[in-house]
Amino acid sequence: MFFIMEKNYKKILVTSALTYANGYTHLGHIAGSLLPADIYVRFQRLLGRDVLYICGSDEHGTAIEMSAIKENITPKEIIDKYHKSNKKAYYDLGMSFDIYSRTSTDVHRATSQDFFMNLYNKDLLYTKTEKQLYSEKEKRFLADRFVIGTCPVCGFEEATGDECENCGSSLTPLELKNPRSKITGDTPVVKESNHFYFPLSKYQQSLETWQGTKNNWKPNVINYCAGWFKKGLQDRAITRDLDWGVPVPVEGYDEKVLYVWFDAPIGYISATKELFIERNNPDGWKDYWYNGETKLVHFLGKDNIIFHAIFFPAMLMAHGDFVLADNVPANEFMNLEGSKLSKRRGNIIYVKDAVEKINPDTIRYTIASNMPENRDTDFYWSDLQAKNNNELGAILGNFINRTFVFANKYFDGTIPPQNELQDIDTNIKLRLNSGLEKIEADYENYKFKDAVTDSMNIVRDANKYFNDTEPWKAVKENKERCETIINICLQLVHSFAVIFHPVLPFSTEKILHMLNKGKEDLSWDKAGDFVLKPGHRLNQPEILFNKIEDSEIEKLS
Ligand code: 2FM
Ligand code: ZN
Repeated sequence: MFFIMEKNYKKILVTSALTYANGYTHLGHIAGSLLPADIYVRFQRLLGRDVLYICGSDEHGTAIEMSAIKENITPKEIIDKYHKSNKKAYYDLGMSFDIYSRTSTDVHRATSQDFFMNLYNKDLLYTKTEKQLYSEKEKRFLADRFVIGTCPVCGFEEATGDECENCGSSLTPLELKNPRSKITGDTPVVKESNHFYFPLSKYQQSLETWQGTKNNWKPNVINYCAGWFKKGLQDRAITRDLDWGVPVPVEGYDEKVLYVWFDAPIGYISATKELFIERNNPDGWKDYWYNGETKLVHFLGKDNIIFHAIFFPAMLMAHGDFVLADNVPANEFMNLEGSKLSKRRGNIIYVKDAVEKINPDTIRYTIASNMPENRDTDFYWSDLQAKNNNELGAILGNFINRTFVFANKYFDGTIPPQNELQDIDTNIKLRLNSGLEKIEADYENYKFKDAVTDSMNIVRDANKYFNDTEPWKAVKENKERCETIINICLQLVHSFAVIFHPVLPFSTEKILHMLNKGKEDLSWDKAGDFVLKPGHRLNQPEILFNKIEDSEIEKLS
């Protein structure tokens, strides 16, 4: 389908931050990067656009090694366990990835090494000798998080080599007093090690110029970046002395691995390659990555902004072959009932547990309605209950239910004809169409919270239409009039199946089935037209949103 977007983009490539496969992911991940991306992608598909949704597990880095030590299993066992579990939980929550890959694949290793060699062969990288802590007992260099010691700022004795949990200072392992290995407790020695550096400072000017062309980026992203630009970008070491990761493909360095933040974003490219290998079109990925006609959009939480809006774009500039992001619509954080949704503090709702207990569409709707787009927000179980009962059930479910009751009772489960229209009928159609325009703009501008509100407001007006036209009276006094009203209500039900599809994929599929319509009717073009034909037979209705009782919420909170 031909379409015009800003800049005449022909393809859209959407990514969600790859989640570390070192633990079960929580609703914070969903609110930050997965749900907004999925909603955006589903909306673009409704418009018939050529869009890919890429995600996967981030399987390298010290976080994985650390979990392996904690659980007393190998890093490979860790990633296999959590990759499988997180992937299933995401699909259960309706994430419509084109591929959910992982960074431990052969394709990813080769792609990251090729990327590195491209920069190396162009002489863009340099090496530098660093002093690092080395454990004689473990025969290895200790990564930041593997060292504990006394904070030089506040004297806290359990500070780690990257930060002090007590005073919040950001630290390096060499600054710690009385450093010791977190694993064996022994005192490490200082040893020199040679590492490759990426000259990020050299790209500051180009990055600022590039970001200067972006007039639709979110203020939070622009502000974060402005802060880093002001401080001045520092070159970054892109290799590490670890066992776990992508081996550095240069002789003499093959005992080292690539820094996880170097290989992880390349994962978006390798996952796209894998997708096209699966599709028996191994070069197909190039149409998305090599082509200036692709709109690349990265969804992520605010802690990842620097990597997606600064570091990865600079890597891509250095490489030269690939498209740069059109937008990086980062979200802030979602907290749980006022405290941070974070594994460290134990206030967590795991995705895998939530989808087992709650209708996935209810979870999606609740999070989307309260998405941390511009500021941190809070997730409350009582809010989920209210959204489910008072909006999804009492507004959307109720409209659909009362419409089907009439169609079944008075029109033999078929779509009645549309007879002469009155102003109230044309007005609800106009209302629908103006609503659709607004919602379309919401989605295009990454305003998912507004999209949800604007969508539900049309249903509110549809219920008002039902009340005001009084079909229960019309059926006795003027059957033709009643036919028209119920016809229009059923057309609206179809429109709602389309409009809510990005947020409520499971329920809208059920609505479509109730209408006895197929996937081809799930198209944004058809949402504003009344496309259902009189005489068409409907299927039996079903309850879409069961009431959530107080007792259930008490158990969850
Ligand atoms: O912060 C995180 O959870 C990282 N695993 C995100 C990686 S995003 C990308 F670059 F792969
Ligand atoms: Zn401190």
